[in-house]
Amino acid sequence: MKTNKLLYVIFLSLTVLCFVEKATGSEKSALKDVFKDYFLIGGAFNHNLVSGEDPNAAEIAIKHFNTATSENDMKWSLIHPRPDQYNWEPADHFVDFTEKNNMVPIGHCLVWHSQVPRWTFRDDSGNQLTRDALLARMKDHITTVVGRYKGRVKGWDVVNEALNDDGTLRNSRWLQIIGEGKPEQQYDYIAKAFEYAHQADPDAELYYNDYSLSTDKEKCDGAVEIVKYLKSKGLRIDGVGIQLHAGLDYPDKESLEYCINTLAATGVKVMVTELDIRTQRRGYRGADISRINRQNTSDPNAASAEIQKKLADKYAEIFSILLKHKKVITRVTFWGVYDRTSWIRWGSPLLFDRNYKPKQAFDAVINTVQADM
Ligand code: G3I
Repeated sequence: MKTNKLLYVIFLSLTVLCFVEKATGSEKSALKDVFKDYFLIGGAFNHNLVSGEDPNAAEIAIKHFNTATSENDMKWSLIHPRPDQYNWEPADHFVDFTEKNNMVPIGHCLVWHSQVPRWTFRDDSGNQLTRDALLARMKDHITTVVGRYKGRVKGWDVVNEALNDDGTLRNSRWLQIIGEGKPEQQYDYIAKAFEYAHQADPDAELYYNDYSLSTDKEKCDGAVEIVKYLKSKGLRIDGVGIQLHAGLDYPDKESLEYCINTLAATGVKVMVTELDIRTQRRGYRGADISRINRQNTSDPNAASAEIQKKLADKYAEIFSILLKHKKVITRVTFWGVYDRTSWIRWGSPLLFDRNYKPKQAFDAVINTVQADM
């Protein structure tokens, strides 16, 4: 009787193991091996993944990725919630996890109009800071955060999303206060952020990162202006991140290639930093979360064969273009690991579904390498 029970338990355990193996796609090739001669490949990691609370997501990440970006834990409001308080633990977990698993860690992000506390722009009495006081506060933040991970974090998204879709500079608090409404000072806050980051870790790579660069040519041209300005001041900038939050019908090939070629012509590295594909249709194509939350984003047909085929085709198209430009593209990072924890709460944006299973799109991406050989 006892032996039968034991055999039954062993049988059950093996069945569960096989299921988990199948479910997370352990039998599939690893993306990082398939793309090793082309570019780094990675994902944005949330805290559950790096802290061990989502072991299946960690398993996918360890198998497939050789680079990782912190999805939220290094943003100003999370890592520096109050003037005298830094919250290091989640970011430390992220960096430790990447080191333990031989991944190149990318810090995201130092200066952004979003996820930044109100106090950042005010003094103790609640009055708006002066230009000099805000620069001092920015310097202190960048020096402290970059300094803590000096020699460990390989590259930083120093300034994130400074542009409007027409390529002009976004009227953020950073621009208003440090730019003081003077055209000749409009790039100052960006330049200072890069200067402070370089001082804090002279070996770290420094990036400008934005969305819709591959759909809106004027915005891509705006990013070129930023690169040129920084270079004209002798400042270090290593790369531009094309976020590439795509949809089933955008960006078109021509716009994506325009973007890659135009950015590469400035001499910087080009990176795809936040890749995903929205399966639901909607008017707004950007990645400003405050605008997206107001949209109806439910997507009841996301798992249908028709949508999955379209998703696979779009991923294949994007990767074929990225492979064509492998000489200038150094990294491709998905914005997330699997669908359930994506910032796109409904839909089917990534290569792994809500149950950690690789989708048709996964195979389509792998197959682009065969086609490129
Ligand atoms: O930290 C709070 C937590 O205390 C609270 O309990 C919880 C309740 O909802 O919210 C938590 O904050 C959330 C935060 O992510 C951290 O998890 C915010 O509500 C949520 O809006 C926030 O969303 C992130 C968004 O940026 C805004 O920062 C997404 O996860 C993240 O994927 C997204 O990433 C951005 C990139 O940084 C820049 N490019 C666009 C991309 C997509 O919007």
